[in-house]
Amino acid sequence: MLNVEENELLTQIGPGKPMGELYRRYWFPALLSEEIPGADCTPVRLRLLGEDLLAFRDTNGDPGIIDPYCPHRGAPLFFGRNEECGLRCVYHGWKFDVTGACVDLPNSPEGETYKDKVQIKAYPAWDRGGLIWTYMGPPDKEPPKPNLEWLEFDAGRRYARKYFMNTNFAQALDGNFDPSHVQFLHNTLDNTNNKRGGEGWNIQDTNTKSYSEYIEADHGMILLRINERDDGKKGVSLVHFWMPNASSGGIAGSGVYSSNIYVPIDDENLHQYRIRWSYEPFTDQQVYEDKYGGNTMPDQIPGTFLSVENKSNDYLISRIQQKNYSFTGIRSNPIQDQAVIEDQRGALMDRTQEHLVSADEPIIKLRQLLIDSARNLLEGHEPPGPSNPDASRVHHARFVVPEGVTNEEAVEIGKGKMVGPNPDWVASKEWQSTFAPVRMSEPVPPSPSSQG
Ligand code: FES
Ligand SMILES: [Fe+2]
Repeated sequence: MLNVEENELLTQIGPGKPMGELYRRYWFPALLSEEIPGADCTPVRLRLLGEDLLAFRDTNGDPGIIDPYCPHRGAPLFFGRNEECGLRCVYHGWKFDVTGACVDLPNSPEGETYKDKVQIKAYPAWDRGGLIWTYMGPPDKEPPKPNLEWLEFDAGRRYARKYFMNTNFAQALDGNFDPSHVQFLHNTLDNTNNKRGGEGWNIQDTNTKSYSEYIEADHGMILLRINERDDGKKGVSLVHFWMPNASSGGIAGSGVYSSNIYVPIDDENLHQYRIRWSYEPFTDQQVYEDKYGGNTMPDQIPGTFLSVENKSNDYLISRIQQKNYSFTGIRSNPIQDQAVIEDQRGALMDRTQEHLVSADEPIIKLRQLLIDSARNLLEGHEPPGPSNPDASRVHHARFVVPEGVTNEEAVEIGKGKMVGPNPDWVASKEWQSTFAPVRMSEPVPPSPSSQG
């Protein structure tokens, strides 16, 4: 539970807010590269961290993110002509390049010299890994570019989809680092979904002895979990939180890693980027599953980033499925998450009303890291991550160590496995068997209305 001041500090990301300023120390995705697909393409309206913006690509193909309004008399640059390395306002012809400089001011004789004094807001934009990244902080604090491992992978080994969600970023992060929801929210009534171990470390185990540790790192935090099996071996899992907004979403399949990045539109809305990458080219089956399977990447309404199953239609919950097949009756894992995250007493939850338990420990640790980092920045202490992008070149790891290996030794082994290609990632299959899923002891009782 947080008090009112802590909850506001955690969730408010507008300009001048402590968390907003912390966000503005990092590069993060602003949109998909394909939204501005080529030179001189149609501009795209954006809203990021509570600021309205406009993205476009100039004649050289370079991306720009600028103020959406013309400084002359405020006309929308969205209607601008994208021509010869600049966006020209259709009202009186003022023209701006991707840096926000006014490069032509043709409606007045003084324009030739006056244009040099006109500059609109523009944020750096960087096209990499299928995303356009931006940095919205003070220019003198601009850090080196991100260096996540998948950013240098070709399109055959990475995949990204973007989803609109009606929730605060911290609410979405809480859901990502919630260890005990998987065996309920994502389960099937015969418990088989749990056994697939799709979200790995999240599976709560009551039949094994477990040990957790939260290791602060330059990129954010490593959440370590070690489970002791009856045969003496240990299942080890290392999950990452990349400050200020990303989770390692687990090992998604055969050598495939995943991450969710949450980019606030404003305090109550965000875009989630669901990322997958693989050291080996994706198989045809993986490509099909991601593009058309509707499970790992839920289907979207064409031309939007809104899932077909969304808040306006109660996520197409099937009460028949809920009675007979799955815990929720909602079709896919991501939509099951979305259904509970988008309305926890609203899109901006009041954390003074929570009743946290020991199973919520990772959530508590992450909130504390974010709050401490925002307070530290207020006092002039910069977060370590932005200036050390190499620290973020890590991924989820899980493996089994033999009898006799201490927890400390297991952590050291894990640090080697969360970097670069991991030849023995296949051990994850054995790793899954270290977790004995909790059975739901009672079948879900029928509701009174279904009886008789
Ligand atoms: S309002 Fe844009 S040029 Fe006049
Ligand atoms: Fe989930």
